[in-house]
Formats: sequence, C-alpha cells, structure tokens
Amino acid sequence: MYKLIDGKEVSKSVKDRIKAQTELLAKEGKKITLAVIIVGNDSASRVYVNNKKKACEYVGFISEEYALPDTTTQSELISLINELNDRADVNGILCQLPLPKTIDEKAVIAAISPKKDVDAFSAYNVGKIMIGDYDFLPCTPAGVMEMLKFYNIDVEGKNSVVIGRSNIVGKPMSMLLLHSNATVSIAHSRTKNLAELTKGADILVAAVGKAKFVTADMIKDGAVVIDVGMNRDENGKLCGDVDFDNVCDKCSYITPVPGGVGPMTIAMLMQNTLKAYYLQNNC
Ligand code: GUN
Repeated sequence: MYKLIDGKEVSKSVKDRIKAQTELLAKEGKKITLAVIIVGNDSASRVYVNNKKKACEYVGFISEEYALPDTTTQSELISLINELNDRADVNGILCQLPLPKTIDEKAVIAAISPKKDVDAFSAYNVGKIMIGDYDFLPCTPAGVMEMLKFYNIDVEGKNSVVIGRSNIVGKPMSMLLLHSNATVSIAHSRTKNLAELTKGADILVAAVGKAKFVTADMIKDGAVVIDVGMNRDENGKLCGDVDFDNVCDKCSYITPVPGGVGPMTIAMLMQNTLKAYYLQNNC
C-alpha cells in the first residue's frame, strides 16, 4: 500500500514557520516585501503569480505585483528591475518565466541582484548551489527535499533518477540529492533505455513536462516517486508527468498532482524571501 506525500500539509508547516517569524518581526515594525513581475498574458503564469501573492498574504509578506504588457521591451523590464534592486524596502524580486520571445531571459535573470534573487536563478546563486554553499535554495528542488525530510525518507546511498535537465528543476534537483549523498543519474530526451535506468531507482523524480510519461513498467517495487509535472491530459484534466493511477500501487510513497510538489515550490519561495530579508539586514 502506497503512502501519499501531501504537499499541502508539508507546505502549510513551512509557511506556518515563516508566518511565526514574520509576526515576530512585525512586532518590531519590520516588514518583508516580495516584488513579482509578470509580462504578457500567459494563463498558467497568471495562476502561479496569483498563488504566490496568496502565499505572501498568508505568511504576512507584502507582495507588489508588476503586470506588464507583452509589448514591454527588454530595457524597460531591466529598468524596472534596477529600480527594485535599489529599493531597500524590497527584499525579493521574482520575474515569472516564460517571458515573451522578444526578451532575453538570461539578461533579465542577470539583472536581478543576487541578494534579491529568491528564485535562485542567477549564475552567482546557481554557482553557490553547485558548491553546496547556498543562501537561496532553488524553490522546486528544495520543496522536494523538504517533503522527503517531512516523511523521514532518507536518500543517502539510494539510487536516484531525475528525468529532466532543466535549469529550474532537473539540474538543481540532482545537486540537492547529491548533497544529501544520494547516487544520482540524470535522464533526458536522448537517454537510451530509460525504463532500464528508472527501474533501478529507489527515488524517481519526474520533471519532463509530458503528461503521464512515467508508466508502471518504469518503476521499481517500493520506489519513492516525485512528480514535478503539471500538464493537461487528453480530457483537459490537470495531471503530472507520472501515470499516477497505474504507478501508485508499485510505490512506497508518491506525490499527487495537484497537491504535491506545486504548493512546496511556493512555500520555499516564501522561505527564500525571509532569508533575503535576513541577509539584507545582517540577521
Ligand atoms: N516559471 C515556472 N516556474 C517558475 C519559477 O519557479 N519561477 C519563476 N520565476 N518562473 C517560473
């Protein structure tokens, strides 16, 4: 019988911890602010940004939203980021991706001050993650590690397979597993005999972006399966990268979609914003 990893419960425990800290700071008249920039009308991005704003309200942060039209130029966007970098009362800056094709994402990420880069996307923060000496944790991978910790799932010495090599999830996920002494393989679209590899996985993290891509024949009995995907199935229903209904009975633990990794990403963003405040105020 598998156990469901409840991302809502774990994320609530993280957010409650942060809320308690925010309340203590508020008693001294101190406030924490996250600036969230969204460019254009991507409907998924709009949902993510709204959820980030709701989480800010929950933990007691101020959220400032900058919703810019898709005609915004790169230099206009970077000017806004520079203003936010210079404001002492803004602790974290997040620019929701993807950006319109006319804007170079790398240039925008590079413009955010590493001290306010609560996504941990900048080259500086990614470098710190590589050497295991980080201020900001990459939100989705950190959320996965937090869930594993909550359920006392030890990854040390375990065979872990991460499917996907994106800068946002796959690569930093592999690093965090490695820092926790897992044996890590990264699979991707050119991997040969994927099922052979995943069948050896004690811990399987799916971050491919393809609906129900991971099927039961790819799973080791008793595996822990973490689904980072957020897709729509053939009926338009929200689903992950894992074919949950067929896979779950082979697992010891599995995350649902929705209600698994998604809420954790946002909780870890709140944690990074609190950390940013502490770093900027030397506490
Ligand atoms: N787009 C998809 N996921 C993310 C994320 O974690 N942060 C930002 N800024 N954009 C995203």
